[in-house]
Amino acid sequence: MNAPAKQQEFATSVPAGVFAETVTEVQHYTDHLFRFRMTRPESFRFRSGEFAMIGLVVDGKPIYRAYSVASPAWDEELEFFSIKVADGPLTSHLQKIKPGDTVLMRKKPTGTLVLDALTPGKRLYMFSTGTGIAPFASLIRDPETYEKFDEVILTHTCREVAELQYGFDLIEGIRNHEFLSEIVGDKLRHYATVTREDYPFRGRITDLISSGKMFDDLGLPPFDPAVDRGMICGSAAMLKDTKALLETAGLTEGANSKPGEFVIERAFVD
Ligand code: A2P
Repeated sequence: MNAPAKQQEFATSVPAGVFAETVTEVQHYTDHLFRFRMTRPESFRFRSGEFAMIGLVVDGKPIYRAYSVASPAWDEELEFFSIKVADGPLTSHLQKIKPGDTVLMRKKPTGTLVLDALTPGKRLYMFSTGTGIAPFASLIRDPETYEKFDEVILTHTCREVAELQYGFDLIEGIRNHEFLSEIVGDKLRHYATVTREDYPFRGRITDLISSGKMFDDLGLPPFDPAVDRGMICGSAAMLKDTKALLETAGLTEGANSKPGEFVIERAFVD
């Protein structure tokens, strides 16, 4: 029996606590990156920035990995942005999905990259590398982000220019969106940098912060704990290094139970 048939079979006897949803759209960006959209169960509620456990049935058994929901809470579908790993237990299969296929999702979303985990401020920095942009794709499309902050700066760093495309499409989608474009206005800035190819903005975000170049490029003052807030999503090393820079600037880490000046979350999938 082939995999989709198995998924179908599984979908007819989905265990409690799991949704079986239908893929509506798949877009491949590079050999390593793709996004997909799927139906959203009416009862699935989440806060922008949270993640859910996404899965597929492989060899008769469900395999799940954490995925940030990339779509905003108001969207009637769900969007996810994923890497493709040739021998990845989930992504080696997930990268082959097509519209009409079934994807599993555990019912309870969670996560710390939520507006509630931040104390009030004026300027919100979202620092991302690779697929770490996903939770911010949700948050920058959520009107509440612009009710709470005067300025929102999304930084996205990848190895190669082609890997930035999801972010560029995202920003263009906001600019062309009838209502969202009015809400967002000129509050949103996108700062995209590349580390292993020629590009006008080059370097790791940590180096660009340390050298002051990010502030110069954006025409902004250095971090100020009184007004600046941060959210970080990337690899473990990127989180550690970016967090250290924010702490040096006097910002303290927050959580759902105790809001603070910045929050962090690993971009999960391997
Ligand atoms: P670099 O090319 O210099 O390693 P990865 O795919 O390895 O997660 O990397 C995604 C992006 O994050 C790359 O541009 C990479 O830069 C950058 N990066 C990797 N480690 C760190 C770190 N510790 N701090 C900041 N950026 C990092």
